[in-house]
Amino acid sequence: MKKHIVLLPGDGIGPEVTKAAKQVLEAIAGRYQHTFTFESHEIGGAAIDQQGTPLPEDTIEACKKADAIFLGAVGGPKWDQLPGHMRPEKGLLGIRKQLGLFANLRPVQAFQQLLHASPLKPEVVAGSDLLIVRELTGGLYFGEPRERRDNGQSVVDTLAYQRMEIERIVEKAFESARVRRKHLTSVDKANVLESSRMWREIVEEKKVDYPDVEVEHMLVDAAAMKLVTNPSSFDVLVTENMFGDILSDEASVLTGSLGMLPSASVREDGVGLYEPVHGSAPDIAGENKANPLASILSVAMMLKHSFGMHEEAETVEAAVQQVLQSRYHTQDLKISNGVLVSGSVLASKVVDQISANDTTE
Ligand code: NAD
Ligand code: IPM
Ligand code: MN
Repeated sequence: MKKHIVLLPGDGIGPEVTKAAKQVLEAIAGRYQHTFTFESHEIGGAAIDQQGTPLPEDTIEACKKADAIFLGAVGGPKWDQLPGHMRPEKGLLGIRKQLGLFANLRPVQAFQQLLHASPLKPEVVAGSDLLIVRELTGGLYFGEPRERRDNGQSVVDTLAYQRMEIERIVEKAFESARVRRKHLTSVDKANVLESSRMWREIVEEKKVDYPDVEVEHMLVDAAAMKLVTNPSSFDVLVTENMFGDILSDEASVLTGSLGMLPSASVREDGVGLYEPVHGSAPDIAGENKANPLASILSVAMMLKHSFGMHEEAETVEAAVQQVLQSRYHTQDLKISNGVLVSGSVLASKVVDQISANDTTE
């Protein structure tokens, strides 16, 4: 199969983890006789420095034509003082919005090999396997107005949704639950927010179409607590944009590191942008310390969701498991008797594993 992939390395550790993602895609292409072509474009701080804007036109155009997009990370202290509309993050928010990528799928799985890498007790973490379905192009991140007022004496952000925006993300979550363990937790703040009360109503309306899926509603504060006390009780969670952002970083603790969490930002037709959940990690950028596994697992999601390459995706996931089994890890993962390696070495272990398992000769 022929596929064209746009790479958006971005800032900080973004280029390091994007390189790992590309190497894994090349290894898969080699093993399964696919042709993957690549094109890199600027986004975020890198784009601000080169082109004076966080989301250049050529980047948008290339993404629109691509079969799939991979994004490393954006942002960093260098650009933190810029006004909101000029920040690197605006590039990421903009590309998600422009491409209509309303569903952000963030699977969180406690790998057996990493049970002891989490600061949580292994018996709490064991068996965790959940999917956060985060609404990505609406809610508090995009509502208008958003501005300083009265000479800086007041400020407003807006949490707004169109009914249709809630309906489509809720449907996506039900569909996801249907092919998993058929349990959906809708997370909101319906005891306070009107938007959450409407969200709850829509979940109730939609559930008649999915009689095979069990639904519960949970307030976001309680969900935050339960994620670290009884994570294995969750299957699929669906929630508003900012709630999903916060809960997913929290949930990463189950895996041992934020550097383990992949994500897919998709719309109905399967077009997708694949991005590790973590940021540009300025504290370790340029030191070859970044864990590439979140990016590599995002590549597995790309193969599965955008290309329908299920065997290839499983090969990537199996290679990651195998490398963890051999106790290789980057510094973010605390593994006793582990083999501490750099980010690039960890990526090459995964690549070697993919190529070594090649039985197609
Ligand atoms: P961060 O996710 O970049 O880092 C948080 C902590 O996790 C840091 O200690 C970092 O070293 C560690 N970490 C993150 N990814 C890692 C990896 N792959 N391997 C090892 N350790 C890893 O969050 P932050 O520090 O709050 O934000 C830094 C910048 O990144 C900000 O500008 C923020 O806006 C941006 N950001 C971007 C994205 C994105 O592009 N998708 C996501 C989150 C944050
Ligand atoms: C994420 C990030 C982004 C978000 C930022 C960088 C805009 O935190 O992808 O989780 O909040 O969506
Ligand atoms: Mn985030």
